[in-house]
Amino acid sequence: MNQKHLLTLHDWSTDDILETLALADKLKKELKAGVKHHILEGKTLAMIFTKSSTRTRVSFETGIYQLGGQGIFLSSADIQLGRGETIYDTANVLGRYVDGIMIRTFKQSDVEDLAKYGGVPVINGLTDLVHPCQVLADLQTVAEKKGKLQGLKLAYIGDGNNMAHSYLYGCAKVGIDVAIATPEGYECSAEVVENAKNDAKATGVKVTVTHDPVEAITGADVVCTDTWCSMGQEAEKAQRIKDFEGYQVNGELFAKAKDDAIFLHCLPAYRGFEVTEEVIDGPHSVIFDEAENRLHAQKAVMAQLMAN
Ligand code: CP
Ligand code: NVA
Repeated sequence: MNQKHLLTLHDWSTDDILETLALADKLKKELKAGVKHHILEGKTLAMIFTKSSTRTRVSFETGIYQLGGQGIFLSSADIQLGRGETIYDTANVLGRYVDGIMIRTFKQSDVEDLAKYGGVPVINGLTDLVHPCQVLADLQTVAEKKGKLQGLKLAYIGDGNNMAHSYLYGCAKVGIDVAIATPEGYECSAEVVENAKNDAKATGVKVTVTHDPVEAITGADVVCTDTWCSMGQEAEKAQRIKDFEGYQVNGELFAKAKDDAIFLHCLPAYRGFEVTEEVIDGPHSVIFDEAENRLHAQKAVMAQLMAN
């Protein structure tokens, strides 16, 4: 594949995504068979976090170790970036030491600037705009559970946030119809919807954005949601809980999806808010397989971007 970075899935072609998913499957099988890899032997990945993380940190750090390399955890509480050093200087310096940079932060433009100035592959570990690694893992999970991607319908009920945006981008590229239902005032970015609709022309995907959760979920093969209050929005929590009434994925709503629908949640989840226990801990939920696939999908991304 011809990509240097993973900034958004919109930047990647359908083939780039499918190639990465195929490699993720291969690496998963090989790990379970005890195969040892040296694909990234001697390579280092700087992992910058200006927001909290459980899955992203542990799956990247474990993943690069399993490929023979080393992850370096850099919390913004400890590095000079957190005290005002610029992205430009940070990128130029880190690029002299490491073979790749993974960053979780607020502004998508910071990730783009790192890629512009760092001179090494940059992987987006979540911004306010998108969470591409998560949706690669989700697509891997969907393919495992459904045996295919093309021709399915994915419904996302909740906030028009980084996860919603990444589902729009990922589904439009791989041939999954995507329907997003958000409350008024919490819609997806118009630019992201337009980009996804343009990508969907090539794949024949139907992109629906609505305020009606029933419309979105009806006939869905895959049902997703995410927290109503993302990192950085803590002050809006009480207002958001009021505004998202009617957008909870509960048993009654989930029953409108297909009988064999699966439930995905990137986690962390807040039971009793965006989803009920009945759904997230019920027989259709595949959340822990989904979380596991972060490891395999990201190993594939690192192998693709950092091996040469
Ligand atoms: N889903 C996800 O990215 O989890 P963390 O915030 O724990 O990394
Ligand atoms: N939308 C959530 C995802 C967490 C993995 C957030 O940005 O906090």
